[in-house]
Amino acid sequence: MITGGTSGLGKATALSLAKLPSSHIIILGRDRNRCEAAVSDIIQATGNKLVEYRLADLSSQASIRSFASKFRDELTPINILINNAGVMCQKRILTVDGYELTFAVNYLAPFLLTNLLIDSLKNNTPARIINVASDFHSDRIDFDNLNGEKSFSPFKAYKLSKLALIIFSFHLSKKLLNTEITVNCFHPGFLKTNISRGLSGVYKFGFKTASFLFGKNPEKAASDLVYLATSPELSNVTGKYFKGRVEAKPAAVAYDIQIGERLWDLSLKLTGLS
Ligand SMILES: NC(=O)c1ccc[n+]([C@@H]2O[C@H](COP(=O)([O-])OP(=O)(O)OC[C@H]3O[C@@H](n4cnc5c(N)ncnc54)[C@H](OP(=O)(O)O)[C@@H]3O)[C@@H](O)[C@H]2O)c1
Repeated sequence: MITGGTSGLGKATALSLAKLPSSHIIILGRDRNRCEAAVSDIIQATGNKLVEYRLADLSSQASIRSFASKFRDELTPINILINNAGVMCQKRILTVDGYELTFAVNYLAPFLLTNLLIDSLKNNTPARIINVASDFHSDRIDFDNLNGEKSFSPFKAYKLSKLALIIFSFHLSKKLLNTEITVNCFHPGFLKTNISRGLSGVYKFGFKTASFLFGKNPEKAASDLVYLATSPELSNVTGKYFKGRVEAKPAAVAYDIQIGERLWDLSLKLTGLS
């Protein structure tokens, strides 16, 4: 299962995974038309008919809950969960749940979705969770400004959300140590995708120009992500941060166990899981 499989890295990864023998892909997306188009493109390109979609708007916790509840009832097995969907937002927009949109989609959504699907993964071990983070992440976490309530800038909010996702990945990997579920996070490199669509003005111009000049096509990053998701040599590797296929070090704060616990406890409250 991959979130954000309608565009960019997510679509390229879903397509690469669909080429593997016996693969069954579920794209989780928010828009029926875009999901249908992605599924149809992938089936046409690969000949694999086991490519489906499910709907959830990751900016809404009710939508994530409703999807997860129906999905659990289906009993469809999953053994790979790739939390890939992400946004950049020019303005501080609040979601229906009252959270800043970047933080909600890039961090709270994978936190909630993963927790709601954990039993489905536990029932289908060995299983892998991969969170698509970014090297463009903060080196500190300001617990008083997770929602951009004190100050907001598009890149600051994005970097904070990606740091939170890395901290979550490391913390979850420890909680799942004896379960045959691995949890790793991934930086795909700088890509030519639609990620800047939520930006405007100089932010958009700067990001688009840089990605046009220096960005990679998402297909190469997708092959790295497929490697993390499927390669036998990584079957016992957990709690790591990868840049492409190479293990790397994120900001030091990501290894701080107390910060990990504090963020976990707070996230339980923010997602109503506690
Ligand atoms: N591009 C880069 O240079 C770069 C670098 C490092 C990390 N990343 C990360 O890579 C991941 C993929 O991004 P990308 O570059 O491929 O960007 P993209 O082309 O804009 O794809 C983003 C995906 O997220 C989905 N999405 C956004 N908001 C959603 C919501 N509320 N509910 C459900 N799905 C939602 C989009 O769905 P719709 O089609 O419905 O909009 C789309 O499928 C992101 O996590 C990004 O932060 C990207």
